[in-house]
Amino acid sequence: MVKEFILNTGAKIPSVALGTYSRHAEGFGDSIITAVKAGYRHIDCAHMYNNEKEVGVALKRLFEDGVVKREDLFITSKLWCSDLSPQDAPVALDATLKDLNLDYLDLYLIHWPFRVKKEGSVSPENFLVPDIPATWQAMEKLYDSGKARAIGVSNFSCKKLGDLLEVARVPPAVNQVECHPSWQQIKLHEFCQSKGVHITAYAPLGRPAYTSGNNAVLSDPIVQMVAEKLGKTPAQVVLRWGLQMGHTVLPKSKNESRMKENLDLFDWSIPEKLFAKFSAIEQVKLVRGEFFVHQQSIYKSLEDLWDGEI
Ligand code: A2P
Repeated sequence: MVKEFILNTGAKIPSVALGTYSRHAEGFGDSIITAVKAGYRHIDCAHMYNNEKEVGVALKRLFEDGVVKREDLFITSKLWCSDLSPQDAPVALDATLKDLNLDYLDLYLIHWPFRVKKEGSVSPENFLVPDIPATWQAMEKLYDSGKARAIGVSNFSCKKLGDLLEVARVPPAVNQVECHPSWQQIKLHEFCQSKGVHITAYAPLGRPAYTSGNNAVLSDPIVQMVAEKLGKTPAQVVLRWGLQMGHTVLPKSKNESRMKENLDLFDWSIPEKLFAKFSAIEQVKLVRGEFFVHQQSIYKSLEDLWDGEI
């Protein structure tokens, strides 16, 4: 059950992906191979993670060794903020494809609704005003070319997604956002559902390495209670909550047994009565995007960046 969802393109998207954000340590490439051997069929990448070459080496090995074929995998990547100009977007996709050793992506996302100068870092002297409709037209051309079999966005509020939907010829297939029981995004969830935009959830475990105390999703008393009742781990309960919401989840792990644990979500479910308890969990956004907020930015406050949805 819910092993895959269907995008508005008609394509299937595997509902659990391996996240690759900030993974650089030695053995990272091998961990991709381990994950695919353990059953992962969806890998969530981005140019900004600065590790697509390692992913590409691992993919090449997996294909050469006959572990999987290209068409067995669903690979996502993201257009970084310095490549939002319509001329730069196709060049950026080609660079990502080269790094990943692929000739198409299953999904290509605008990483943030934010723009900096070409090759510039996210620092005030590089800030530019994004023209999302123009970038989206470039994304539509990439979709038409077949190099990106679906296109979408990431970190878009209801307002920004709604504005894009008004001008899009090809509607975004996905909005990738932070989502877990402590940041449930109910308004965005309902909006996306009404528009046929699929949510993929990053930080679905609530970034346990960076959070503690009241912010820690995995130690939330409701999550712990449900885990105990079902005989599952808190991580499994939190991921299964995401699947039952109708979202694809993108957990990261470098540890083989946790990778397997995070994939063992399909032959059980959270009963309705327990599922309803999640609505009582206190809401705290973890990934706030402070980097993009500045007096010289188009976003003067977090309220501007998230259009009040924070
Ligand atoms: P590790 O790589 O040692 O497994 P998120 O995807 O929300 O950002 O969380 C990723 C973090 O969660 C990583 O630090 C990862 O550590 C940890 N993690 C992954 N799977 C589990 C799990 N099943 N239980 C506890 N922590 C986990």
